[in-house]
Amino acid sequence: MNKGLAIYPGSFDPTTNGHLDLIERGAKIFEELVVAILRNSEKVPMFSVAERLEMLRELTAHLKNVRIDTFDGLMVEYAKSMEAICILRGIRAISDYEYELQMALMNRKLQPGLETVFMMPAAKYSYLSSRLVREVAQLGGPVDCLVPDLVVQKLREKMDVANKFGDGAGSARESEARAAERMSNERKTKSRKKKS
Ligand code: PNS
Repeated sequence: MNKGLAIYPGSFDPTTNGHLDLIERGAKIFEELVVAILRNSEKVPMFSVAERLEMLRELTAHLKNVRIDTFDGLMVEYAKSMEAICILRGIRAISDYEYELQMALMNRKLQPGLETVFMMPAAKYSYLSSRLVREVAQLGGPVDCLVPDLVVQKLREKMDVANKFGDGAGSARESEARAAERMSNERKTKSRKKKS
């Protein structure tokens, strides 16, 4: 078993300064930290998994012991497959505690050997959440001090597309639909070429 590998799971839709702060703190404590993006979330995301993966990779490029990955299904199963010794989660305020405690105890029930470690981000980020960042950005408010510059830029791009083409445009669902349409068109072109 790898003694120093921890998993930091989440949605990261999008990554905030609070997430980054926690990643940097975690990277100092663990030998290796894997930031794992959940793929099969029930929530409709703003950014596709591929977009979130790319952003997180760029944002953590300076941290040599941090890796970005995605996972599906039960988090404890993923952690087992990675031979992780613990799960890292952030607690911002007492309001987070109840949900995090429930999740940690359920995960312990599912996998008794796997510990959950809670860390606090810097106090200045204690009110920050991806949900609020999305809401402020969607309503045209400034998010400059809440998320890294790269995320500010990606949020602007999303909002520009949404404003240009209407509701739903620029969302993860829309970019996935466009990718599926592109693939289907490519398949049709290939099959037409074969026939001719
Ligand atoms: O950033 P989030 O949305 O608070 O992260 C929640 C996450 C991804 C850590 C949690 O939903 C999760 O682990 N989902 C995977 C499915 C699972 O294992 N569910 C049982 C949790 S007790």
